[in-house]
Amino acid sequence: MNQPAMQGLNLGTPSYVKNARLIAWVADMAALCKPDSIYWCDGSQEEYDRLCQQLVDAGTFKKLNAAKRPNSFLACSDPTDVARVEDRTYICSEKKENAGPTNNWMAPAEMRATLQPLFDGCMKGRTMYVVPFSMGPLGSPIAHIGIELSDSPYVAVNMRIMTRMGKAVYDVLGDGLDGKGEFVPCVHTVGAPLQAGQADVQWPCNKTKYIVHYPETREIWSYGSGYGGNALLGKKCFALRIASTMGQSEGWLAEHMLILGVTNPQGKKYHVAAAFPSACGKTNFAMLIPPAGFEGWKVTTIGDDIAWIKPQANGKLHAINPEAGYFGVAPGTNQLTNPNCMASLNENAIFTNVALTDDGDVWWEGMSEPPAHCIDWQGKDWTPAVAKATGAKAAHPNARFTVAATNNPALDSAWDDPAGVPIDAFIFGGRRSTTVPLVTQARNWTEGVYMAATMGSETTAAATSAAGVVRRDPFAMLPFIGYNMSDYFQHWLNLGKKLEATGAKLPGIFCVNWFRKGEDGQFVWPGYGENMRVLKWMIDRLENRAPGKEHVFGVSPSYNELTWTGLQFTPEQFNTVTSIDKAAWQAELKLHAELFEQLAHHLPTEMSATKAQIEQRLAA
Ligand code: OXD
Ligand code: MN
Repeated sequence: MNQPAMQGLNLGTPSYVKNARLIAWVADMAALCKPDSIYWCDGSQEEYDRLCQQLVDAGTFKKLNAAKRPNSFLACSDPTDVARVEDRTYICSEKKENAGPTNNWMAPAEMRATLQPLFDGCMKGRTMYVVPFSMGPLGSPIAHIGIELSDSPYVAVNMRIMTRMGKAVYDVLGDGLDGKGEFVPCVHTVGAPLQAGQADVQWPCNKTKYIVHYPETREIWSYGSGYGGNALLGKKCFALRIASTMGQSEGWLAEHMLILGVTNPQGKKYHVAAAFPSACGKTNFAMLIPPAGFEGWKVTTIGDDIAWIKPQANGKLHAINPEAGYFGVAPGTNQLTNPNCMASLNENAIFTNVALTDDGDVWWEGMSEPPAHCIDWQGKDWTPAVAKATGAKAAHPNARFTVAATNNPALDSAWDDPAGVPIDAFIFGGRRSTTVPLVTQARNWTEGVYMAATMGSETTAAATSAAGVVRRDPFAMLPFIGYNMSDYFQHWLNLGKKLEATGAKLPGIFCVNWFRKGEDGQFVWPGYGENMRVLKWMIDRLENRAPGKEHVFGVSPSYNELTWTGLQFTPEQFNTVTSIDKAAWQAELKLHAELFEQLAHHLPTEMSATKAQIEQRLAA
């Protein structure tokens, strides 16, 4: 311990922490937030176990039945703190135009003045945890370091699963004297100071919430929520919002994409990065098990949510998963939809807002046959009869699991490779019951950027009360882009030009839609493991083995280009999921026009030109 007392509070800086900027910042934040004590996390197993026990003692965690779910816990949040709060999320760039029309904005000085009184004394009666983490393999040239200060031990233990968290981060950080030692400072408080003698609640939070990003100074300040992306600041706040701005200025990409490896029976391996909006089954796709008829094929997971992608001198794009765990949606996950995920959850997992069964295990809607009785996420008795009468859910629709990537039986052997994996194809997908075909390849990079930019997805009841409305979600980044959306399109176009200049083969760009419905309102495509059939067609395209059929929007397969062994799927059904309806596309293009109007400032001319080409083809 080498630090003097700060305003009566000893920082207790461990001797292995040498970075002067970090120490000064912790001292400043301690002086502002006024915690009772400071705890420097070392990331050890002993520490994790101790903090989990502390959460059990505080009533935040329930330890699950060790015989059924070893070393696993259930946390139930305050009913007002159950999801990311997009309307309380701000990009505070100096200029409003740099946040762009899709982000909430406030001038940095005004936001700092707003947050100052909220953070003043916000950690009274609590411990401030110093959480050092690396997004990406420690020391990887693609990785970056963050330090989160949080008054939530729930955050500290979740961050240990979701990131490379611990002491070793300080070795990479060094003393900062060599001009290196960069880190993103992330301050988080649940916004619930305790007066002397005041008892704590199970899930402290504040009804006022601010999730704030300062892109120019690369800082994150989060107030009032203990939940998910609002509080685990390495994920959406750092790895997407701040990292996307870093990527813009440094020439790389931070994307809302899973990364998977797919190996064919001859042993040739391909890597695919795929962007889907929330609630489109990203984790299921990332852990796909090839179906009958695909013996010898293997799909392996590198990441399930976020990709950091950097161009190499040879024109290849190399991607890492900056995360080390999965913070996935539990409801709907089962042995059929995602057996690898179910296996990942067998032990060492944290569950949030699922139901507690009478034998001390967890349950959620869609997991299995409902139990005769359980305690729902709000602590109430739940039975199938109650559910039928009141519609009450046992698990909150946005209930989550937190689990280490290393629990995943399908984990790719290169998932932790500091060099990343070379990307062969990008996939963009949304939830569309009509219009968008099962799979389409863009004819070139610009058309691919257009496809991604105009992506839309129907909202689900979990996200909003207005289910079924198409929300435009460019690149699945709408809630996550840290700067002007049109500048982001330009960044993608520029990157394509830069890669082309090396003479390298660019990754293929594909658009998929697993969610087309028939006249009966039912999904037509079986999805899940059967998506392998589409993945194989993409690989055939990359290898020039599938001619495809051109249409207004790009190139899609004809029926006999997909492998059907092991699945009954008729040409009529195939037609239902691939047909191009002219009228629907004319209406779709009007929506693209609306989007482009909203994004007019700095919209690349390539976007309107590509739209005009589609219109011409439609008119022909
Ligand atoms: C997520 C999301 O939690 O995209 O990954 O909302
Ligand atoms: Mn996500």
